[in-house]
Amino acid sequence: MDKNILQIEGLVTEFSTSEGKVTAVNNIDLNIKKGKIMGLVGESGCGKSVTSLSIMRLVPKPYGNISKGKILFKDKNLLDLNEEDMRKVRGNDISMIFQEPMTALNPVFTIGYQIGEVLELHLGLKGKENLNRCIGLLEKVGIPRPEKVVHEYPHQLSGGMRQRVMIAMALSCNPELLIADEPTTALDVTIQAQVLEIMKGLSKELNTAILLITHDLGVVAEMCHDVAVMYAGRIVEEGNVKDIFMNPMHYYTKGLMASRPNLVKKGERLKCIPGMVPSLHNMPKGCAFEPRCSNPMDICKEKMPELIEYENGHKVRCWAVEMEGNRNHGR
Ligand SMILES: Nc1ncnc2c1ncn2[C@@H]1O[C@H](COP(=O)(O)OP(=O)(O)OP(=O)(O)O)[C@@H](O)[C@H]1O
Ligand SMILES: [Mg+2]
Repeated sequence: MDKNILQIEGLVTEFSTSEGKVTAVNNIDLNIKKGKIMGLVGESGCGKSVTSLSIMRLVPKPYGNISKGKILFKDKNLLDLNEEDMRKVRGNDISMIFQEPMTALNPVFTIGYQIGEVLELHLGLKGKENLNRCIGLLEKVGIPRPEKVVHEYPHQLSGGMRQRVMIAMALSCNPELLIADEPTTALDVTIQAQVLEIMKGLSKELNTAILLITHDLGVVAEMCHDVAVMYAGRIVEEGNVKDIFMNPMHYYTKGLMASRPNLVKKGERLKCIPGMVPSLHNMPKGCAFEPRCSNPMDICKEKMPELIEYENGHKVRCWAVEMEGNRNHGR
């Protein structure tokens, strides 16, 4: 059995808005295994970023609030830590990279200064030792002429190079978990593939677990060992990548699979899931996906199905699957 590095139990994250309280993350459980890459997918607004911000305890205050649950990192509940201890966890144990690297890099300092600052703060490295480590990190993420780039400013680099710098920075203290929220969405496709390849290689080399948030199922297939599919703040399906791709069980996951552009033959129209994600202010009483489902039943309108584990750790939250499963087991 792979050991979990992060275990989320019953996490609820809410926001107070002018129209009332909304539950952006609704009672989710998620396990990330040591050294493995877990994909978190789902349409815009389903709660992926709020999940990652919750893990880092960076949900914007005072409107956002983690109201329930546990986030166990190596069996320690991050929600119990004081701000100072949490700051130590960020950077040392868990790092995060965001979608737009330009906003995370400071334009007035050199690349070397910014990585160096992290190395000094967390590892106490100074002077030549610090500089050499910076250059080594830039080399690791495939930046050509690192001894020159280390003295350059963010605007002198391309988007792909900046994202590599972010990865170097995130990995500078050998974190055990890296949270990457759409790390390559802003990049063009070939650069995207290179950056992902680097992340995958480093994860393997350094045994860093990654929570990879993406819209792109192709990226999941390439990168991940496990996947969780989110819909309207809840996990609706979870399992290892092979089971999810070979045998998607939730109608939402099936819809996501069918709308992958690379599966469409030339001249054929791209399929999409009809309808829209429900507003968090106006959630259906039963299954949140029922209004868009291709196989809705009466019970789906009335009651939210539970996330149930089937074979091989494959979990699904769907009445149709649950009833089918019960029938097959003669219950
Ligand atoms: N600061 C906030 N105040 C109020 N609601 C918020 C806030 N941040 C996020 N939300 C709501 O929480 C829900 C989940 O948002 P989140 O950013 O996690 O979605 P996402 O899955 O990351 O989407 P995307 O794929 O577009 O990045 C959304 O409905 C969003 O409107
Ligand atoms: Mg997001």
